[in-house]
Amino acid sequence: MQAYGPSFAKIYNLRWNPFSDTVFPRFQEYFEGRLPKKRTLLDLCCGTGRLSSLFLNAGWTVTGVDLSPDMLEHARVNNREHIENGSAQFFQANARDFALRKPVEFAISTYDALNHLESDEDLLSCFCCVHRSLKEGGTFLFDLNTPYGLQNWNNVSISDRDGFFLIHRGFYDESKHRATTKIEGFLKLESGLYERFGEIVSNTAFRNDKVGEMLREAGFRNVIFSRLQSLGTPCEDPDHEIRIFIIAEK
Ligand SMILES: C[S@@+](CC[C@H](N)C(=O)[O-])C[C@H]1O[C@@H](n2cnc3c(N)ncnc32)[C@H](O)[C@@H]1O
Repeated sequence: MQAYGPSFAKIYNLRWNPFSDTVFPRFQEYFEGRLPKKRTLLDLCCGTGRLSSLFLNAGWTVTGVDLSPDMLEHARVNNREHIENGSAQFFQANARDFALRKPVEFAISTYDALNHLESDEDLLSCFCCVHRSLKEGGTFLFDLNTPYGLQNWNNVSISDRDGFFLIHRGFYDESKHRATTKIEGFLKLESGLYERFGEIVSNTAFRNDKVGEMLREAGFRNVIFSRLQSLGTPCEDPDHEIRIFIIAEK
């Protein structure tokens, strides 16, 4: 279980939006090409709700699910207007065990959120929950860090820019198929003082072939491993991608 805590949730909300901003136009283009009828979306492991916001502003109805009450608090503040007009809701649940009241047309889970699950059993259980949450013909799109990509976590990196000092100390344990990084840093406040934050984040290295197998076991078909730049087109060698975008249909 990896619910991000309050200090990291605050920093994530301030600094980790660019990924959502990058994937949104690609996701939207892909979904619009599949002629959504009602534009209903599940954002699984929605975090602070940045990607949800972009879809909501484009007229979608979004249900966000996350394990962390602190991340969800930001998601609710960031999307207050949409919650008030009934087009957004955010609730706390574990991705490996949740249910929606009404099925949706599309489901997403981004920024290697599903790598946070700890075992194949958890991932399969998550896929079954997503499958139950989708309407017939619905589409699930998510990204994972590949085992190849997670080897890059085996290092230390330091960055210091725009009043934001960040240290990553990572370790990839190949025998346990698990990469862990300790993220620590300081954010410069308006007062000139620095606020310290920290989080330990672990990713499970799920093998692509096993992921495909589990999606099919959960009932999905037409499973495609692709790059963000060419969503829907199978990439030549998914095992040598750092991050892979996976599409599966109900
Ligand atoms: C890297 S963040 C991604 C957030 C968001 N999807 C984005 O693109 O910015 C991972 C998120 O997954 C959530 N999370 C981790 N384990 C989870 C679980 N088992 N069930 C639901 N959410 C989980 C964390 O709380 C965090 O908000």
